[in-house]
Formats: sequence, C-alpha cells, structure tokens
Amino acid sequence: MKNFINIHDVDDVDALVREAMQCKQNPRADHTLGKNKTLGLIFMNPSLRTRLSTQKAGLNLGMDVMVMNFSGEGWALETEEGVIMNGDKAEHIKEAAAVVGAYCDIIGLRSFPSLKDRELDYKDHVINEFVKYAGVPIISLESATVHPCQSLADVLTIEETKQVERPKVVLTWAPHLRALPQSVGNSFAEWMNRTDYDFVIANPKGYDLSKEFTGKASIIHDPDEAYKGADFIYAKNWSSYEDYGKVLSTDENWMVDERKMELTNHGKFMHCLPVRRNVVVSDGVIDSDSSIVIQEAANREFAAQAVLKQILLGIE
Ligand code: CP
Repeated sequence: MKNFINIHDVDDVDALVREAMQCKQNPRADHTLGKNKTLGLIFMNPSLRTRLSTQKAGLNLGMDVMVMNFSGEGWALETEEGVIMNGDKAEHIKEAAAVVGAYCDIIGLRSFPSLKDRELDYKDHVINEFVKYAGVPIISLESATVHPCQSLADVLTIEETKQVERPKVVLTWAPHLRALPQSVGNSFAEWMNRTDYDFVIANPKGYDLSKEFTGKASIIHDPDEAYKGADFIYAKNWSSYEDYGKVLSTDENWMVDERKMELTNHGKFMHCLPVRRNVVVSDGVIDSDSSIVIQEAANREFAAQAVLKQILLGIE
C-alpha cells in the first residue's frame, strides 16, 4: 500500500480487516518492523481517538512518533496556488508538506472541510497537496470527504460482533446543533459498499449524501422503517450535502432512543465518537449492553496498525 487516503487504496478489504484482527490478538508481534522509521501526525483540527490510537499503533510497530497540532501551533497555511501571500498566511502548503516529509517516513494528516464551498472541499485539496509534495506515504486521519481509519475500525467491529453472516447495517443521520462534515458518513457508506452486508442509509429529506459514496445503499427517509430488523445502528450527524454545509433540521425524532432500538433485531449501537448524549443518542441506549462504542474506539488502534504495517512493508 502506497498511501491510505480512501477505500480506493485498498485492494482487499477482507485481508486488511484480518490483518487488523491479528494486530489486536498480538499488538507487539511486529515491534521491530518500524524500527528507525518516523511517523509524523499532523492535526489541523481537534482529535482524541485518532491522535492517540495512531500514535499507539506506531509505537506498537517500533516507530518513533511525532505529533503536531498545526492549528494554533504551526504557521497559518496558504493552500491556493499562485496567490500573493501578503495576508495572514505565513507558509505555503507546498513547503510545509515537503518539510514534514523531510523529517518523516510516513505522515498522517487530519484536515476538515470548510463546509462553505462544496466543489473545493470535495477536491480534498489539502490531503492531495500533501500526497503531491511530501514525498512520503500519506495516511488520511480524516479529510474533507472521508475518514478511512474510522471506517476500517467500524468494519472490524461489525465483523467481530455480528451474529449473522449478512447483517442489516443502518447508517442513520442524527440531530446536532452545529454543522458537521459528511466525511464519516461518506466513508462508512463507501466501505459498506465493499462488503456484502444489507446496507441502508436513513436520513431526513435534504440530507442525502453524495451518490459517489452511497453507491448501492437503500436510502430511506423514515427512521422507524429503517430500524426494523437492523443488526447494527450506526449513528452520525452530517450537515447537508445538497444545501451544502447547512443545518436544515434538528428534529429530535431522529435521535437514537430506546423505542427505535426496540424495532431492531437486538441491534448494536455504533458511533465514531465524540457524541452528544441526549442529542444524538439517549443515555439509555449508549449506556446499555447494545452499545459497542468503546469497542469501536478501541479498534481504532488496530485499524491504524494494520494500515501502518502495510505501508511499512511497501517502503522497506
Ligand atoms: N472518531 C474520531 O475520529 O475521533 P477523534 O475526532 O477524537 O479523533
């Protein structure tokens, strides 16, 4: 594997999930693979899980790990080509990417969308500029459009929890006060499209994700209908893709609650975290035995480790 930017970098999803399972069974089995290799983790936005799990994964493989919060700590980055840099941005992304690449053997990068300009956001310009100028493999730690490390951990979690061969998996929009990216929903959808699960997306009208990511999923605008018989309820808020970046609804009928979970087939509750309790999901659901959010978050370490291992094997 050269880079891990999205699902298209993965030839065999099953094999990568199996690799993550092996990492989980014995996290230190390959503790010399990353010896004398440096992993740089660059965050342009906040993180708890991604930062710590990827750092831990690198340490499990014997890598040296450096972490930097660009937002607040780094120079403000100019990302446009050919501009006269006489404003508040002190460094161009071309130099920044190349300099980080000079210090690191692999770079992980998080960069959220603006949610103002859909065309620009969906070019995933920042991460693609790092791919172009860093000169070393790049791992997406959540870009403007996708969050592949999260999605790999999600598939791993479903595989180790499912009770039937072909589970019904429902990605449901849930309310939120703020405008959030579509990246987790997009990414989960495109990874589900690479499985043979029965995959359904439930969201209010006006919140359909881009067809580029939803693929073969059934799109349902009635949560009760979607929840019926589900084995997994994967909740996430996203702002509108159609009316780009807007919050069109905060309808609490879309919150994951005990009544709707009763419609499922003893369904498990998933969320990438962080989650707003009693806005996105009721206390009763997230505190119940059906919630597997901590297992899901813990699996981020092994998903990241499987990806790092594949990339390290490619650069040896
Ligand atoms: N799920 C996830 O990416 O969490 P963080 O934003 O805390 O990294």
